Amino acid sequence: MKGIILAGGRGTRLNPLTLSLSKQLLPVYDKPMVYYPLSMLMLAGVREILVISTPEAMPAFQALLGDGRQWGLEFSYKIQDEPRGLADAFIVGREFVGGKPVCLILGDNIFFGHGLGEQLKAAAGLERGAVVFAYEVKDPERYGVVEFDKDMRAVNIEEKPARPRSHYAVPGIYFYDGKVSEIAAAMKPSARGELEITDLNREYLKRRELRVEIIGRGVAWLDAGTHESLLQAANFVQAVQDRQGLMIACPEEIAYHQGYIGRDDLVRLAKNAPNAYGEYLRRIAEE
Ligand code: TTP
Repeated sequence: MKGIILAGGRGTRLNPLTLSLSKQLLPVYDKPMVYYPLSMLMLAGVREILVISTPEAMPAFQALLGDGRQWGLEFSYKIQDEPRGLADAFIVGREFVGGKPVCLILGDNIFFGHGLGEQLKAAAGLERGAVVFAYEVKDPERYGVVEFDKDMRAVNIEEKPARPRSHYAVPGIYFYDGKVSEIAAAMKPSARGELEITDLNREYLKRRELRVEIIGRGVAWLDAGTHESLLQAANFVQAVQDRQGLMIACPEEIAYHQGYIGRDDLVRLAKNAPNAYGEYLRRIAEE
């Protein structure tokens, strides 16, 4: 399974923060936002990752993430010149996808909770069709909303419905088989001029190839696209990390625990950060 992090967009809701900086590089407490979705891909066992962003932000992403070898990963980069929608990721990334299964994660989505790694690893085993998730939220009208029948089988998905038929929103992590680029290329833009991920999911649903899995309330799903939610995400990360003494979304730690890098590599990475972050990495290496 390959992975795509979609980290472009305009970030208009976060202006003026995002007038000259990419939203996905803004800090969420002690790390750049993109570390959080990146960590999810790593936990799912995905190592070959395409980062899609804007022409302006691309050099900063490359400076931050490099070629990925430091974490036992392989990064490549592709520019999306205009924000044409989430499903455009599979057109921009068509060559990278190469007809193989792929996981897309949005660069501003943050997940944390028990059992998530296992759930993602299972989804990453997908060979045919698609897997998306459903998560109960207070304000479903802001998202793609799933309607289930009495056996909890998905029967419909609507994008930002005025009258949502459930409280189940689709979070920004999606798994597709190798057909996805072809299907995306045949799609038409919506009324707001975007290639909608919801339309892509509806197409898989129509073909009876969409599985919708519930992510339970034991998992936190945050998106950091507004000033309030960005601050909430930072406060959440700070509170959990401070209580546990363990980091959320530390790529070095995950790389080490997944066996992507060895103890010597981790110690070397710790030396690059002469602060609490580096001390944390040293502690992990010693445990
Ligand atoms: P959004 O939050 O929907 O859009 P945005 O980031 O441009 O913000 P705003 O609505 O405030 O203008 O996008 C979700 C994620 O997907 C976010 O990480 C940006 C990214 N994105 C792209 O990279 N390309 C796109 O074409 C779109 C629509 C979004």
